[in-house]
Amino acid sequence: MIRLGVNIDHVATVRQARGAVEPDPVAAAVVAELGGADGITVHLREDRRHINDRDVALLRQTVRTRLNLEMSAAKEIVAIAGRIKPDQATLVPERRRELTTEGGLNVSGNLPQLKAVVAGLQRKSVAVSLFIDPREEQVAAAAKTGAAAVELHTGAYARAPAGDEPRQLSQLAAAAAQAHSLGLRVYAGHGLNYRNVAGLLQAAPEVEELNIGHAIVSRALFVGLETAVRQMRECMVMARKRT
Ligand code: PXP
Repeated sequence: MIRLGVNIDHVATVRQARGAVEPDPVAAAVVAELGGADGITVHLREDRRHINDRDVALLRQTVRTRLNLEMSAAKEIVAIAGRIKPDQATLVPERRRELTTEGGLNVSGNLPQLKAVVAGLQRKSVAVSLFIDPREEQVAAAAKTGAAAVELHTGAYARAPAGDEPRQLSQLAAAAAQAHSLGLRVYAGHGLNYRNVAGLLQAAPEVEELNIGHAIVSRALFVGLETAVRQMRECMVMARKRT
């Protein structure tokens, strides 16, 4: 069964635009769960651009599904994750001036450091996923870290002109198959929306979880968050039925 992790960072982005107390991502998590979210995903950035420490602490107490904390491998954030103990930590690269997470982690180039961070989080009973580009050397390196899962970066697929979609999908399919054969669980995310999600799920049957934010929060402005989450789950379930 395919799972949907709803990324609610953008709810906090709207709050921060006014420096106000609403909309509250904690309330958004409750509504997303009512709509059928299988998990709630938030990114506690080092610059606290949207989600903050208060949000993560409250979400830990209120999320009834699974809390997935996206985070960099920075010492301060790793320490917070160790205290909060999300169900899952997804390690992502972070750059100050990016609009959103731009590329996957360079696991092959930072193996010793990432191995240590993965082991430290696992000692605190936090499952670890690594956000990587769908490339052979990154998948192979991810398997060496001891992480339980990889989240394949779908941004290049999401941005691809129609003619290039098949190539992007075959890269994702190959990476998913490789990760699965190495014993990793396979997740995916970034730039997924109501139209492109089916192509991915049909191309990569090993994918068992998607993390989706922007498309759901955008649609929520017009149809409400509960409906937006429910419609995305329906797209995902329908896509898998067709495979
Ligand atoms: N997965 C990861 C690792 C991300 O960094 C993001 C963006 O925060 C997402 C998924 C969700 O991407 P989007 O908002 O484009 O759906």
